[in-house]
Amino acid sequence: MTDIEELLLSRIRDVADYPEPGVMFKDITPLLADPAAFTALTDALAEISVRNGATKIVGLEARGFILGAPVAVRAGLGFVPVRKAGKLPGATLSQAYDLEYGSAEIEVHAEDLAASDRVMVVDDVLATGGTAEASLELIRRAGAEVAGVAVLMELGFLGGRGRLAASLAGAPLEAL
Ligand code: PRP
Repeated sequence: MTDIEELLLSRIRDVADYPEPGVMFKDITPLLADPAAFTALTDALAEISVRNGATKIVGLEARGFILGAPVAVRAGLGFVPVRKAGKLPGATLSQAYDLEYGSAEIEVHAEDLAASDRVMVVDDVLATGGTAEASLELIRRAGAEVAGVAVLMELGFLGGRGRLAASLAGAPLEAL
């Protein structure tokens, strides 16, 4: 394990039976509260974005905003929020996706993404991949190109990487 992996992992708190019995929640708030760890995380996600030629960072509400915004500033790129339905005031593109029970919908302001943009999606966790998959769909529908997906953690046992393969179409998925 590298020094940065060790640092990041040491600042993620396992919370048993949250938000429901049987689930082990990965709490990133200790990491955010530690300036060395938060800076190391921001720098690493910014490096992935620059290395893959990103021109914009898309952050996924809500924890993807906490990480994506400083990454955008660090990388010298614009930040575009993908929000849960009903939160953006302008003309939006919407994408529905399946949850374990029911469905959800996310939105983006189409005018914030141009055909010339290469977009890196930044989030804290890749779990089933449903949210990231829907965000890649939004980026393509807005006419922009996908530079990749960069996350702090990938919960490999939930199969998100496999689910994302088709929408990534060869673009990288990098998990720290
Ligand atoms: C969490 C997480 C990812 C998503 C991953 O967001 O931050 O965005 O779920 O799950 P998936 O890969 O199965 O789609 P959530 O909407 O639960 O909470 P948040 O608003 O606190 O970020």
